[in-house]
Amino acid sequence: MSPQQQTLKGKVAIVTGGTRGIGEAIVKLLASRGADVVINYTSDSSESLAKNLIEQVKTHGVKAVSVQADMGSLDAPKKIVNAAVEAFGKIDIIVNNGGVADFKPLTDLTVEHYEKIYNVNVRGPLFLVKESIPHLQEYGRIINISSVAARLGLAGSSVYASSKTALESLSRVWATELADKNVTSNSVNPGPVLTNMLSSLGPEFVDGMQKSTERAAFPRFGTVEEIANIVGFLAGPESQWVTGDVLSGNGGYLYL
Ligand SMILES: NC(=O)c1ccc[n+]([C@@H]2O[C@H](COP(=O)([O-])OP(=O)(O)OC[C@H]3O[C@@H](n4cnc5c(N)ncnc54)[C@H](OP(=O)(O)O)[C@@H]3O)[C@@H](O)[C@H]2O)c1
Repeated sequence: MSPQQQTLKGKVAIVTGGTRGIGEAIVKLLASRGADVVINYTSDSSESLAKNLIEQVKTHGVKAVSVQADMGSLDAPKKIVNAAVEAFGKIDIIVNNGGVADFKPLTDLTVEHYEKIYNVNVRGPLFLVKESIPHLQEYGRIINISSVAARLGLAGSSVYASSKTALESLSRVWATELADKNVTSNSVNPGPVLTNMLSSLGPEFVDGMQKSTERAAFPRFGTVEEIANIVGFLAGPESQWVTGDVLSGNGGYLYL
C-alpha cells in the first residue's frame, strides 16, 4: 500500500447506512486507507451484506464491526456509539450517510411522512454526533451526506430537500462548536447516482433524473466511488483547512 492509501491508519470511522450504495463504497474506501470501521445498517436483509463487507475490508488489514440500528429510532445513536466504543475504544470519523427519500406533493403531505424522513435524515445524525462527543478524538471528522435536492426546489421534495438543507446547516454549526478539538465538519452534495434509493423512486423518476443529467458538464449519473472519493478527502489529514463547507459531487449538475 502506498502512504497515500494509509492516511487513516489507526482511525475509527462510523458509517451509517454502510451496507449498500454510496455508504458501502465509503466503507470500502475508508478501510482501504487504513481506518477501522463501524458499519451501520437497518434492514434484516442487509445482515449478510454487512457480514460480507466485514470480510472484504479485513483484506486491508483493518477491523470492522456491524451494528443493526434504525437511525430513525430514538435508541439508535447510543447503540451505534456503544458498538464503536466497545469494539475500538474511540471515534475519529462519523459519516452520516444513511438516509431515506420519498417525494410527495404538498397536498399529500402527512406528519408520518415528515417524521419518517426527518427522524432518519436529521434527528438521527444530530443525536449520533451528540452521543459521540465524549469519544470523538482531536482532529476528528464529521461528514454529512446531503444532496443536490437541497438546492433544486424539485416539486414534491418539500420534506426530503429540507431535511438535507437541515443536515448541511448542522454541518456548519458543528464546524464552529467542535473547532476547539480541531474537528472538521462538512457536507458532501451528490448529484444523482443510480443506487437502490434512486431506483425506489420509480422508473419515471429515474428517467427524469437521467434526462436532467444531460444539461450537466458531465452528462451522466455519478458513481458511488466518485462520492466516496470526496468523503475520503474530507476524512483525511489534507482537508484540515476545510470546515463548515459543502463539497459538490455532481459532475457539474449544479454549481454552488
Ligand atoms: N443515490 C442518489 O442519487 C443520491 C443523491 C444525493 C444524495 N444521496 C444520499 O446518499 C445517501 C446514501 O444513499 P444511497 O443512494 O446510497 O441509498 P441506498 O443505496 O438505498 O442505501 C441506503 C443505505 O442507508 C441505509 N438506511 C436506510 N434507512 C436507514 C435507517 N433508518 N437507519 C440506518 N440505515 C438506513 C440502508 O441500510 P439497509 O441496507 O439496512 O436498508 C443502506 O445501507 C443518502 O443519505 C441519500 O440521501 C443519494
